[in-house]
Amino acid sequence: MPVSIAQSLEKLFSMENKVILLTGAAGGIGKVLAEGFASAGAAMALCDLDAAKLNPITDGINANGGKAGSYYLDLIEMESIKKCVDAVIADYGRIDVLVNCAGINVREGFLDVEESTYDRIMNINLKGLYFISQEAAKHMMKQKSGNILNIASHNSVGMMGGCSVYGASKSAVAALTRSMAIEWAQYGIRANALAPGHILTSLTTVTWEHPERSRYLRERIAMKRPGNPEELLGIALMLVSDASSYITGSMMHVDGGCLAGGAPWPYDTKY
Ligand SMILES: NC(=O)c1ccc[n+]([C@@H]2O[C@H](COP(=O)([O-])OP(=O)(O)OC[C@H]3O[C@@H](n4cnc5c(N)ncnc54)[C@H](O)[C@@H]3O)[C@@H](O)[C@H]2O)c1
Repeated sequence: MPVSIAQSLEKLFSMENKVILLTGAAGGIGKVLAEGFASAGAAMALCDLDAAKLNPITDGINANGGKAGSYYLDLIEMESIKKCVDAVIADYGRIDVLVNCAGINVREGFLDVEESTYDRIMNINLKGLYFISQEAAKHMMKQKSGNILNIASHNSVGMMGGCSVYGASKSAVAALTRSMAIEWAQYGIRANALAPGHILTSLTTVTWEHPERSRYLRERIAMKRPGNPEELLGIALMLVSDASSYITGSMMHVDGGCLAGGAPWPYDTKY
């Protein structure tokens, strides 16, 4: 029987027999990635600080015939990072994919940021991501295969007021992605970043509900609307699956035409 296009595409994007450790799994984007990867066949190790939000997501995946477990993770604590990765290895025996999705933001002007805020953002978005990647990569090296997807941001490249520390952390995530890619290719590990634009989640409702900031944002997005977390799933699945087997060290933007220049200024046209 010849293989149909649908069958070969399904194989390319399938996550059957893959174990994915996902941080920030209880968040707006994390939940969609958790459910989406599970429906592509992955066994999900869902890690987050917020057990109350995480457990129903895990239960929902298991109730729908998928496979998922909840793991406590506080990326600020080195001990917690190690314990979390050890627990996932104890349960699943391997980590095929690490998705670094946990992240925070505090919107304050450059001159207003205090050291404690600076440290908290950097320690979660950058240091935590660094060391959980290091822990997971040690197992991937032994397996001689692995895949890391870092959730970066539009602010890895384009900046907005009041996001200096967040933007610096996300720019650094883009840089780390390139270092992971070049240092770990020899062990069969790929690393890429996905840079969401302005996506509607609890992290950003404060901005989208603000009349001036939401108008400002719409003018800077060619599609003139926020994205939904579901609109990140296709590219995320591509990056964690064999569909992207020759892509490493890249950052893909999903931003409704934000970096492209946003909504155009008034111009003469016949249409
Ligand atoms: N929403 C957007 O528009 C947008 C845009 C660009 C990038 N991002 C990035 O996408 C990722 C997910 O964002 P989201 O919108 O889903 O945010 P969210 O606030 O809904 O989710 C973030 C998750 O990270 C978890 N977390 C926070 N601190 C943690 C810690 N110390 N240890 C472990 N987990 C911790 C939270 O409990 C939460 O579940 C973040 O890295 C964010 O920076 C989001």
